Amino acid sequence: MISNFTYYNPTKIIFGTGTIPKLNKLVPRKAKVMVLYGGGSIKKNGVYDQVMAALKKREVLEFGGIEANPDYDTLMQAVKKIRKKGVDFLLAAGGGSVIDGVKFIALAALYPGEDPWEILAGDGLSKAKEALPFGTVLTLPATGSEMNSNAVISRRSIQEKLSFSSDLVFPRFSILDPETTYSLPQKQVRNGLVDAYVHVLEQYLTYPVGAHVQDRQAEAVLMALRDVAQAALRVPPDYNARANFMWAASCALNHTLNRGVPEDWATHSIGHELTALYGLDHAETLAAVLPWLLWVKRKQKQGKLLQYGYRVLDIKTQKYSERIDQAIEATSAFFHSLGMPTTLTAYGIDPDEAAQKVQARMESHGWTFGEHNDIDGKTAAEILRLSR
Ligand code: NZQ
Ligand code: ZN
Repeated sequence: MISNFTYYNPTKIIFGTGTIPKLNKLVPRKAKVMVLYGGGSIKKNGVYDQVMAALKKREVLEFGGIEANPDYDTLMQAVKKIRKKGVDFLLAAGGGSVIDGVKFIALAALYPGEDPWEILAGDGLSKAKEALPFGTVLTLPATGSEMNSNAVISRRSIQEKLSFSSDLVFPRFSILDPETTYSLPQKQVRNGLVDAYVHVLEQYLTYPVGAHVQDRQAEAVLMALRDVAQAALRVPPDYNARANFMWAASCALNHTLNRGVPEDWATHSIGHELTALYGLDHAETLAAVLPWLLWVKRKQKQGKLLQYGYRVLDIKTQKYSERIDQAIEATSAFFHSLGMPTTLTAYGIDPDEAAQKVQARMESHGWTFGEHNDIDGKTAAEILRLSR
């Protein structure tokens, strides 16, 4: 049965080529703005110059250096500066890491408690009552962060990577100009395609509840990603392929596909542990976990695996076990076609060691994952041991 749900998404999307100058209208006239960015890609590809030109009538401060998998300690430096200078509007210019980092900063800057780490690891979300307003200029289609209220924050000093979700941190607006992606290295395009694809599967490949709209929308996003993947990787870049990729990645995780349906997220949760332990890119962890999770959970996921195989992958065999085998193999093959490995051994990581470490961490936190909440440390270890 479809569960009761609320649908809320207040983020205004401005999509298309040449849209960054619209910042002049989108950011309040009298705002004291801080522009936040990553390691410098926006300075090389012209995004920084476009943003600064659009904001030139305002008082603008900047904070660069937010790393991939944004780190708590870096973000707290921004919080300090914001409080000191009285900044009242934030603009994130970059990929998911910069946007997630800004979501945390927006909450932490106005956090009434002692220690903002509680937002991730304690009851901080119940204490937080407001966040600084912010907008985004997205430069990497992948996470959907530009149109959702989630953030994932790392704290390298204690090897943690944790997430939170709050209605207070929906971006006020996000500018999606596909041309900002032209400077992406192929590896990041590959990562983005895999991340978006797995986002849809986390919300779709569970068990059927008769949600026709959500199922067909999920299938549409999966098929669109498959349709444009090769063209999106092409150099020189193709505008339409990048535009489709960008919008598909936003639609993959903007709180539409998961309304009233069960969700998995075990691949992501195990993946976050792998990033915390080994520093793999987020998408690399997903591709090294998902196929093996599907093998282990093929029985529980049978109904949806059959539907996915038939409708998305065009696998028409009536033999159920064959269709499921082929659906899982075709998923790995899709990742390989993008140049993405699907094993831990491809990164020189020993699957037995990873299994042991992830199991210990999950057990120490008391975590279980999956749509049935039955993926405990032992099952996660079983999944990871197959990733060879
Ligand atoms: O730091 P800069 O110099 O900007 O370089 C970045 C970074 O090195 C570069 N890049 C971004 N746009 C570029 C570009 N290089 C050239 N041209 C451009 N146009 O790409 C590198 C990776 O950027 P990053 O933001 O880290 O990648 P992504 O967007 O994949 O974000 C990954 C983070 O998002 C989290 C992940 O866990 C990870 O921390 N996620 C957030 C989610 C959410 N908020 O809903 C959901 C996801 O499942 C995910 O967990
Ligand atoms: Zn993801």
